[in-house]
Amino acid sequence: MPESSADWWKSSVVYQIYPSSFSDSDGDGVGDLPGIIGKLDYLKLLGVDVVWLSPVYPSPWDDNGYDISDHTAIDPRFGTLEDWDRLRDGLHERGMRLVMDLVVNHTSDRHPWFTASREGDPDRRDFYVWRPGRDGGPPNNWGSVFSGPAWTYDEGRGEYYLHLFSPSQPDLDWENPKVRAAVHEIALWWLARGADGFRMDVINFVSKNPKLPDGPRTGDYGDFAEHAINGPRMHEFLHEMHETVFAGRDVLTVGEMPGVSVEQARIHTNPVNRELDMVFQFEHVDLDHGPGGKFDPRPLDLVRLKASLNRWQTGLNDRGWNSLYWNNHDQPRVVSRFGDDGRYRVESATAIATTLHMMQGTPYVYQGEELGMTNAHLDDIADYRDLETLNYHRTMVESGRVDAATAMAGIARMSRDNARTPMQWTAGENAGFTTGTPWIGVNPNHTRINAEAAVADQGSVFHHYRRLIALRKKHQVIAHGRFAPLLEEDPRVYAYTRAYNGQVLLVLANWSDHTVKVDLPEDVAGPDSTLLIGNLPDPGPAPAPLRPWEARVHLFH
Ligand code: NOJ
Repeated sequence: MPESSADWWKSSVVYQIYPSSFSDSDGDGVGDLPGIIGKLDYLKLLGVDVVWLSPVYPSPWDDNGYDISDHTAIDPRFGTLEDWDRLRDGLHERGMRLVMDLVVNHTSDRHPWFTASREGDPDRRDFYVWRPGRDGGPPNNWGSVFSGPAWTYDEGRGEYYLHLFSPSQPDLDWENPKVRAAVHEIALWWLARGADGFRMDVINFVSKNPKLPDGPRTGDYGDFAEHAINGPRMHEFLHEMHETVFAGRDVLTVGEMPGVSVEQARIHTNPVNRELDMVFQFEHVDLDHGPGGKFDPRPLDLVRLKASLNRWQTGLNDRGWNSLYWNNHDQPRVVSRFGDDGRYRVESATAIATTLHMMQGTPYVYQGEELGMTNAHLDDIADYRDLETLNYHRTMVESGRVDAATAMAGIARMSRDNARTPMQWTAGENAGFTTGTPWIGVNPNHTRINAEAAVADQGSVFHHYRRLIALRKKHQVIAHGRFAPLLEEDPRVYAYTRAYNGQVLLVLANWSDHTVKVDLPEDVAGPDSTLLIGNLPDPGPAPAPLRPWEARVHLFH
C-alpha cells in the first residue's frame, strides 16, 4: 500500500484512464481491465501516484458508460470484479492508488431503480425528478446539455422525468433522503473493496431549486444553470456525504463542477467545511467557446487564460485546493487546442505542461497527453461516436441552422471524440491498442506519436512529463509555494513565481512561435538560480529571451 499522510493528494499527480480506449487485451476492439493491468509498469515509469478510472460499470453505453445500470459491478466488456481486484492490487503493490468515477447525479434509464420508479414501486417512485406537464408540454423550459428538452414524457406514469443530459440519463432526486442513503452505500461499497477515492461526476448538479422554475431562454430552450447548478442544498449534501462516507478515511475526493466559481470552490474545498478535497472547474476550458457554444470555437486569448487560472491560484491559496488539468475525456487535445500540433508539437506540448505542473494544486494527466497526442482531425461525421457531437450535428446541420462545413470545422476542433481515439502504444497496426477492429478510429499519426518511441527518446513529451512529475516530489515549493503572477498583460508569455520557506521558483513559458524578450522585475531575476527544468536544449539564465514555445523553471535560493 502507498504511504499515508493526511494530505498525500497535495503532492500527488493523477492519471486518468478512459478504459474503452486504453488497452484491449481480448481483441474485441474495446479496452478492458486486463489491458490496463498490462500497462501498470508504464504508469510507474511515468511516476504518477493515482489512477482515476472512468466508468467501467454495466451500462447500455448511450453516453460511453456515464449512463450506469448497476453501480457495484463491472461491465463484461471490461472484465470482472476479480479483474478489478487485480488492478487494485497491481496499483497498490507499485505504490499507486485507484480512484473510481462516481456518477450519481443520474443513472441509466435501464437501471432497476428507474424501471421500478416508472412503474410506481412505492420504494422507488420518488427516486427521480417526476413532474406533471404544463400546458400540454414539459413542466418547464429547460434544455438538456446534449441538445433537445431536459424532460421526457413517460406514458406509463403519465408524467415527465428530468434529464439534464440524455433522455437515457434520468436525474436522481437528491431531495429524497433514501436516494442520498443509496448513493452513500455505493461509495462505501467501493471503499470497502479497496478503492482510494472518487471523482464525482457533475456533482454540483444534484441540488435543484425544488420549484424547478423556467430558466432564461438561450435559443430553443431555457438554460437550467440558474436553478439546477450549485443549488440551495449543495453544501449540505456534500457535507452529509463527507460525514457519512469520507470522514476518517484515507481517500481523495474531487467533484466535477461545471459553472462553479472560485468563491464557491473555496467553500467546497476548505478543509474546515468537510466537503471535498478539490473540484474540477471549467472556466479555463470554456474561454474559447464562441457565441454559438463549444462547437463555435474562438482562438485562445492568453491574457484571458492567465487572468482566469491566476485568479483560481490566488483564490484558493491557503483556503482550499485546486485541481489542475488541460485534458480529460470531454475536452479536445490541448496540444491541438492551445498549442501547435504541427511544427512545434513537442515544444508546445511540453511548454503547456510546464505552465500547469508548476502551479499549486493536484495535476491530472489524461491518457496520451504525456505523449503529446493530438486531435483526431476527422472530417466525416460517420467517423464520430460521441452522442453530444452527433446530436449537435443532427440538430444544427439537418435543420439548416449551421452550414455543414462550419459545423464540421467546429466539431473537428472541439468534439470529445478527439480525446477518445485509442491510446497510441506503438507504430504498428492499430497503434498496438487492439488486435481487432477498434470501436473508434486510431489516429494515423500513431506511426510517429506513440509510447514505444517516446519512452526510447529522452527528448520526448513523455520524459518531460516524467521529469515534471518527479520534481513535484522533490521540491516542496511546487506543491505548497505561494503563487504570484507576473507579466499579466503579456500576450505571449505565461510567467509566475511560487515562494516557500525562502525558496522562489520562477516559471516562464513562451506560448508563441516567436522569440520573446522577458522583462522581469529586478527583484525576481537574482543571480543565484538553478535551472530545474527546460524543454529546449541549452537553456539560458532567467532573463534570457525565450525561444518559440520555450519553457524554463528557475529556482532561486
Ligand atoms: C460529465 C462526464 O465527464 C461526461 O463525459 C458525461 O457525458 C456527463 N458528465 C454526463 O454524465
